[in-house]
This record gives sequence, structure tokens and C-alpha cells, in this order.
Amino acid sequence: MNAGLVIYNDFALREYNTFGIECTASRFVALRSGEDYADLLRSGLLRESPFFILGGGSNVVLPDTYDGVIVHPANKGIRLLECVDGRCLVEAEAGEKWADFVDYSIAQGWYGLENLAAIPGCVGAAPVQNVGAYGKEAKDVVRRVHCFDIEKGTECWIDAADCGSGYRWSRFKGEWKDRYLIDRVVFSLSSEFHPDVTYKALAVALDERGIANPTARQLADTVTALRDSKLPNPSTIGSAGSFFKNPIVTDSVYEDLKTANPDIVAFPVDDGHYKLAAGWLIEHCGWKGRSLGRAGVYEKQALVLVNRGGCSGDDVCRLANAVVADVEARFGVHLECEAIFV
Ligand code: EPU
Repeated sequence: MNAGLVIYNDFALREYNTFGIECTASRFVALRSGEDYADLLRSGLLRESPFFILGGGSNVVLPDTYDGVIVHPANKGIRLLECVDGRCLVEAEAGEKWADFVDYSIAQGWYGLENLAAIPGCVGAAPVQNVGAYGKEAKDVVRRVHCFDIEKGTECWIDAADCGSGYRWSRFKGEWKDRYLIDRVVFSLSSEFHPDVTYKALAVALDERGIANPTARQLADTVTALRDSKLPNPSTIGSAGSFFKNPIVTDSVYEDLKTANPDIVAFPVDDGHYKLAAGWLIEHCGWKGRSLGRAGVYEKQALVLVNRGGCSGDDVCRLANAVVADVEARFGVHLECEAIFV
């Protein structure tokens, strides 16, 4: 076994999840190189006991104790593979912080990630969750993903087109769950900057700043300011970002809701469906700013659940269930969690 692979027992995860939940994992291993990934697979540990792959811990709710192995990708590195006809293929390792990767790319003149600025979490999680914000999703920029196959003990490349990416979803969360460890991701970026300002709130924010033709940095800064105005900073208030997904309903469900609630916020997604703003639904059930136990609904954005101090996974679960029940009773719409309960 590689001398670098250290497995810790009874490991405290407080610093490894943005909710700030005190969780003790019976075992914890950080992977710092491709060799570490290979060694971990060879050790057989992941076939013997339950495990969970924990990136930046920005989208998870941890229990008080986790009886299994927490696998933490911590390998770093960003490199340009090629730049041909304005298309730059850039490889980033799973343990890179996503927000740092976005900033670095902009500084290098590799464009396409600006709308995804300041999202917490790591590069390796981006294709799993298909992270998205301000009109862009990871699937718009991911070209291929390099993985270690836990079942077969081999390495492979998976093409982005085969990842089945959807709204906060991919096959890594479905049929491939617990099958692959992602160690690096290749992105297809552009050497020319073409701003995407189709998301209304972003266009309005640029307008308010008097910016008609933003540079990539200005666009990313505006996105960051928008996020800062609505989302809690994990270093001061624990949260997992958006806790629920925005539910997608049929046209006819939307029409009925709109008749009963003329100011409901929704966006057409395709011919027959609308995406409802879950934040609006939660707010109109009176939950914005309220608490239950040591968990609360954030006062500036009702889609976000926060740690009011010393909150446990159970506190979050109770609050989430209460919110889901009220939204269902009032609007007949079922909210699904975006955050993952470990
Ligand atoms: N709204 C309310 N009340 C609220 C919150 C929102 O009425 O408390 C309404 C507002 O009218 C607003 C609309 O909902 O115009 C949409 O709000 P916002 O633009 O803040 O976006 P969101 O749908 O609430 C999603 C993502 C965020 C992402 C933003 C911007 C999901 C689950 N969340 O939130 O992603 O940053 O759009 O693109 O799709 C994350 O996943 O952690 C995350 C922060």
C-alpha cells in the first residue's frame, strides 16, 4: 500500500460539512493523488464496509455518527490539455475547490464558468450533482470524467454525454451510485468570452451596476454579489445552499396554481412543464425566517435551511419534513430535497 494513504479512526467531520454538523465517522481517508485512489481500491475497504464520498460537504446533511468510511477526494491540480480553434480543454482534479477553479480559469482566459462563480464545493462533485446557477449547469462545460471503478478495480473515462445529466442529477446519483470514484474532470472552455446573461436576475443586477458589456471578471463578480446577498456565507452561518429542488409540474397543474395564487413565481421549462420557485412556495407557507429546534429557514432565501447553532442532522430532518408537509398541504406540490442525507 502507498505510504501516503492514511486511514483515520473516529474522525470529526465538523470542518468537512458546510452545515457545521458535529459528526464522527468511524473511518476517514483523504485521497491526495491518483495513487491514493488506486491503493484505496486495492485495499478492498470499500467492498467491506459502507462508505460515502464527501467532497466539500456543501450539499450534505450528516448524522451524529457515521459507521463506515468517509472518502474525501483531496487531490489538486489544474492543467490546460489543449487549446484548438478557441476550444480549451482544461483538466481539474477532484479536490480542487470549485470557486477557485472558476477564478483561476477566468484569470487564464478560459471562459464559460463565470455564471457558476462562488459555488461552494469541489470539482469532483460538479458532474455528480450537475451543479447549476444563473442559467448555466456543469453539463454545459464538462467534456469527460475520469473515474476509478470500485466494483472492477479499474480506471476509465466517461464521456459527459453518457452521464445522464439533468436538473441537479446524473447517473452518478442514480444507477452509478457507489460504483465510481471521480478523481478528475475535463472541461471544455472557450478562449473567447461570450457572456450568458439570460437569467433575468443577473441581467437586472448588471444593469443596476451600469455594466452593459461585462468582462468575464465583472460577470463572475456580479454573480458572486448576487449569491452573497441571498445565500449565507458558510464560514458564519451553516447551511447546505439550496436545500430543496425547484419542483417541475405540468402546464395544467401550473395553470390551477396560478389561478389560485396569481403572484406565484414559475418559469416554463419545456412545452408541457413549468418549474416553480420553491423559495416562493415555502415563503408563502410562512416559513421564511422561522426555526424548528436548532435548524431554521433562512430569512433572505426560503430555499435555504440553516444551522441556528449546534444543530444536528435530526434537527434538519425534522424541519425539512415540516416544510415539505406544509407546502404539500397548501399547494399540493411535493418538494424534493436537493441536499443529500448521509
Ligand atoms: N423566491 C421567493 N422567496 C424566496 C426565494 C425565492 O419568492 O424566499 C422567488 C423569487 O421571486 C425569485 C425566484 O424565487 O425571483 C427564484 O429565486 P433565485 O433566483 O434566488 O433562485 P432559486 O430558484 O431560489 C436556484 C438554485 C440556486 C442558484 C439560483 C440562481 C436550485 C435548487 N437552486 O435558486 O442554487 O444559485 O437558482 O441560479 O435550483 C444551490 O443549488 O445550492 C443554489 C444556491
